[in-house]
Amino acid sequence: MPGDTDDQRRGLMQQAACVAGAWAASGLLPLVAAGEAQHHPRSLLVGEDGAPFSLRRLVPGEPWLFNYPFVAAPVFLLALPGEVRGAELATRDGLRYAAPAGVGPRRAVVAFSAICSHKLMYPTPALSFIGLRKGVGSEPAQVIHCCGDDSRYDPAQGGRVLAGPAPQPLAAVLLDWDAKADRLHAVGLHGGEMFQAFFEKYAFRLEMELGRRARDPSAATALVRPAAAYSRQWQSCRA
Ligand code: FES
Repeated sequence: MPGDTDDQRRGLMQQAACVAGAWAASGLLPLVAAGEAQHHPRSLLVGEDGAPFSLRRLVPGEPWLFNYPFVAAPVFLLALPGEVRGAELATRDGLRYAAPAGVGPRRAVVAFSAICSHKLMYPTPALSFIGLRKGVGSEPAQVIHCCGDDSRYDPAQGGRVLAGPAPQPLAAVLLDWDAKADRLHAVGLHGGEMFQAFFEKYAFRLEMELGRRARDPSAATALVRPAAAYSRQWQSCRA
């Protein structure tokens, strides 16, 4: 409903304002050059039956994927074990931004572009080198691990880089959850998106897989699939 959407937009802005306020209070990061969220047309997340995708289907440790904001751009959709608070991060160009908090009844649902910020590995229909794994040692319970070159990201901290050569966090996908209807929309991104380099690097492959649709914006609905159904093979690498 329009009222709900306005409320949720206000909620997203308040989240960003809270994080910005924390920066100011810390005295560490001045309130200048903060990265703006990149808004894209809204896509309602749906299941295989075309019905709105319910957050009740999300279980910690079991990743799902959809494509947003382009037909060819994969996104991880995750439920984490605990509440996810906003995080203060920076792109490789030093642009500071407020990664969004989690949504849903436990505020534990987050989404990230599944394109690794190092050399742009991503889940294809055949194979994926980047996926959700259990954290090791002092790491959080779950990490996003790209075993192309061993970059590890923290999904509970806005996709922050924990280890490896990745030069910046994964771009966070902004979610808008309508609690009354249990409907989830993707509405934009925050952070260092890599789409231009992605489309240039994989132009031939994407054309073979998707034809001319590859660079099309996502439709009004985006299909959410379990990771196991999105790519036929998931490289476990190590850890
Ligand atoms: S491509 Fe992901 S770590 Fe190198």
